[in-house]
Amino acid sequence: MIKKDKKVTILGIETSCDETAAAIVCYDPKTQKFNIKSHALYSQISLHRQYGGVYPELASRDHVEKILPIINESLTQAKITNDEIDAIAVTAGPGLIGSLLIGTTVARTLAYLWQKPLISINHLEGHIYSNLVQNPPLQFPMLGLIISGGHTLLIAIDKLGSYKTLGQTLDDAVGEAFDKVAKLLGLDYPGGPALSKLADNGDKNAFKFPLPLRRKDSLDFSFSGLKTSVLYLVRKLESEKKLNDQTKADICASFQATAVKSLITKTLSAVEKIGAKTVIIGGGVSANKQLRQDLEAELKKHNITLIKPVIELCTDNAVGIGAAGAIKFLNNDFTSWKEMTVNPNAKLN
Ligand code: KG4
Ligand code: ZN
Repeated sequence: MIKKDKKVTILGIETSCDETAAAIVCYDPKTQKFNIKSHALYSQISLHRQYGGVYPELASRDHVEKILPIINESLTQAKITNDEIDAIAVTAGPGLIGSLLIGTTVARTLAYLWQKPLISINHLEGHIYSNLVQNPPLQFPMLGLIISGGHTLLIAIDKLGSYKTLGQTLDDAVGEAFDKVAKLLGLDYPGGPALSKLADNGDKNAFKFPLPLRRKDSLDFSFSGLKTSVLYLVRKLESEKKLNDQTKADICASFQATAVKSLITKTLSAVEKIGAKTVIIGGGVSANKQLRQDLEAELKKHNITLIKPVIELCTDNAVGIGAAGAIKFLNNDFTSWKEMTVNPNAKLN
C-alpha cells in the first residue's frame, strides 16, 4: 500500500503515434502540485512529411531507434537516476498498435529490470493532464474537449479519473480535416499549423461553408462534409483560374472559422448540459490561436474558466502521461509487467 502523503516521482513514456517522448513528473499530495522535472521529445514529422500522413510501419521503426536515448535524456534533464523513480507510466492506447507496442515493451522491460511498479495510461487522459501540470484551480464538473488528428471528443469529468464521453466525431477528426484541407491547397505537413498561419492573411467571410451537425441536441461532430465543400470550391476556383495566394488564404480563414464555430457551439451546448464550471482542452488542435481566443471569449460571457495547455503540451507528450501516472500511483492503480496489454481503440470510459 502506498502512503497517500508521499511525494512521487514518475517516468512517463509516450509512443502512441509519431512522437517519441519521455518525461519526469513529480507530484506532492500535500500541496497537490505537479512539478515538471523534464520533457524530452522527438517528433517524427520530417519522416512522415513525404507521405502526407503518418506511415505506421516507419513510425514503429523510428520509435525503436529513439525511445532509449529519449528516456535517458529525460533522466539527464531531470538530474536524477532510475533509483529515484517511484514508478513508470506508459500510454497503452488508443493509438497505432505498432507504436504502442514499442513504448509498452520498453516500459515493461524497465519495470522488470529496475523493479518499479508499472502504470497503464489512456492517451486521452494524458491530454487532459497536460493542462493539470500548470496546477490550475480545479472546479467540477469539468468539460474536456479533446481535439487532435485522431480524436474529437467532448468528455464530462466529475472528478479526476471519472470520465463520460458526451459526443464525438462521426467521421473525420477535426485535425484530420485541417490536414486534408491543407493538403488540397498544397500547404506544408502537418497541415493544421500551416493552414492556421495562412488564415491570418485571409478573410473569414469570403466563403460560406455549411456548419456541420447544427442540431442543438446532438453533441456529436462531423467534419467530412465541410472538407468536401472545400474540395468542390477548390475545383471550381481552379477551373475558373481563380485559385491564387489570396483565395487560398480566404479559404483557410473561412474553413478555420467554420471548424472553430462548430467546436465552440457543441462545447457550449455540453457546458449547459452538465453545468460545467471549467472547460479543459487538449490535443494538437487546441494549439489553434483562433480557437483559443474565441472559446475563451465565449466562455467568459458565461463565467466559465478555460484551462488550456501551454502550446508545446497541446500535441502528444509524456508530461501528461507522467502526471496521470502520479495520481494513479497514489490510488494504487498498477498493472504488472506480465499483464500489461495495448488497446489501439481504448476508450476513456
Ligand atoms: O495531438 P496530436 O499531436 O496528435 C494526435 O493525437 O493526432 O495532434 C496533431 C493534429 C494534426 O492534425 C495537426 O494538424 C493539428 O493537430 N494541429 C493544428 C494546429 N497545430 C496542430 N490544427 C489547427 N491549428 C493548429 N495551430
Ligand atoms: Zn494525441
